[in-house]
Amino acid sequence: MLIDLLRSRRSIRRFTDQPIEQEKLDLLLEAALRSPSSKGFNPWEFVVVREAERIEALSKAKSHGATFLAGAPLVIVVCADTSKSDVWIEDASIATLLVHLEAADLGLGSCWVQLRLRDREDGTSSQDYMRSLLRLPEGVEVLAMVGIGYPEGRKEGHPTTSLLTAQVSYEQFGQKKD
Ligand SMILES: Cc1cc2nc3c(=O)[nH]c(=O)nc-3n(C[C@H](O)[C@H](O)[C@H](O)COP(=O)(O)O)c2cc1C
Repeated sequence: MLIDLLRSRRSIRRFTDQPIEQEKLDLLLEAALRSPSSKGFNPWEFVVVREAERIEALSKAKSHGATFLAGAPLVIVVCADTSKSDVWIEDASIATLLVHLEAADLGLGSCWVQLRLRDREDGTSSQDYMRSLLRLPEGVEVLAMVGIGYPEGRKEGHPTTSLLTAQVSYEQFGQKKD
């Protein structure tokens, strides 16, 4: 059941050195490519990065929150051709989440790294840095990266008691269930 996966899912930032098997990479990419998209325009582009030096460079793509990527054996960079859809952000976000969930289903750990609207340590744009590092063509923007690997250690899912049920309304905002 999907709910069981969602109950145990966490963002994982510490990985073992074990590489990701090709079959698992294929499934991660299949999940990404099966993402729903507005009007079926499928604007996403995925860049698979496995070279250690390039992953190291990705870990420096923004000032905070990307350094853990240096320890990941695999990074999938989720981009989109912005000329294909005016809602490419939504489309690419869904694909990013599906990669994260498929990774969890395969016994892998993963974590989203936000790229869009982010800057590097020196104040330059993360987007420009990615464009040059991955040779992205004009119009293709990076939404996020997903660092993926076999988890080191174990993280428990969030307990049901932590769910923000007060943030659910019925019929009108703020109206609670009887
Ligand atoms: C849109 C989005 C952006 C995120 N960006 C980062 C990031 O740049 N670096 C990072 O380490 N984690 C990032 N995360 C992971 C969140 O920090 C994580 O989902 C949150 O703390 C909840 O933890 P959990 O996923 O284990 O439940 C991001 C998650 C989302 C959904």
